[in-house]
Amino acid sequence: VRVGILISGRGSNMASLVDASMAADSPYRVVRVLSNVEDAGGLAIATAAGVPIWARSHKGLKRAEFDALIDAELRAADVELVALAGYMRLLSPEFIAGWEGRILNIHPSLLPLYKGLDTHARAIAAGDAEAGCSVHVVTPELDDGPVIAQARVAIRPGDTPGSLADRVLVEEHKLYATALADYARRLR
Ligand code: GRF
Repeated sequence: VRVGILISGRGSNMASLVDASMAADSPYRVVRVLSNVEDAGGLAIATAAGVPIWARSHKGLKRAEFDALIDAELRAADVELVALAGYMRLLSPEFIAGWEGRILNIHPSLLPLYKGLDTHARAIAAGDAEAGCSVHVVTPELDDGPVIAQARVAIRPGDTPGSLADRVLVEEHKLYATALADYARRLR
């Protein structure tokens, strides 16, 4: 299954998906990494791994216009499945409709808890015993759509949003690679 990954930043989840795709029995291959941030750190990682990149700022374009550019690039690369990995922009309903059931996202909370930003600070402030991460199918509502995999992480006394984020991120990398492979196997 040909996968395109959308990023906006450092790309550690993208890197882990690319790494996992190198396994001989991987059901997916990352054929493009796309970014709405032209100097996103993850782009250099993708290039070093031999994955072609596409980067263009969304600034000055309407959301649907920018998403149409992404859509065209994905289709030109014969992408079959899209993985959002720290892609910090809402996708337009038109784009999502064109990829129904073929966009996955990773979110750093135990969805349906804490959609949106600052998930770790909110989990700590609520006094939760655990935090975690979720992989879900993308639908037009932010961080909504069927959850296909979750991992849990205990919140420790004295945890800060940063210390908790570090431990959750380790689980994100493992969870996303497994969930994407499982999903790709079902598409194939
Ligand atoms: C991750 O925590 C992801 O769950 C969230 O943003 C962060 C992106 O990190 N949506 P990276 O770019 O994958 O390193």
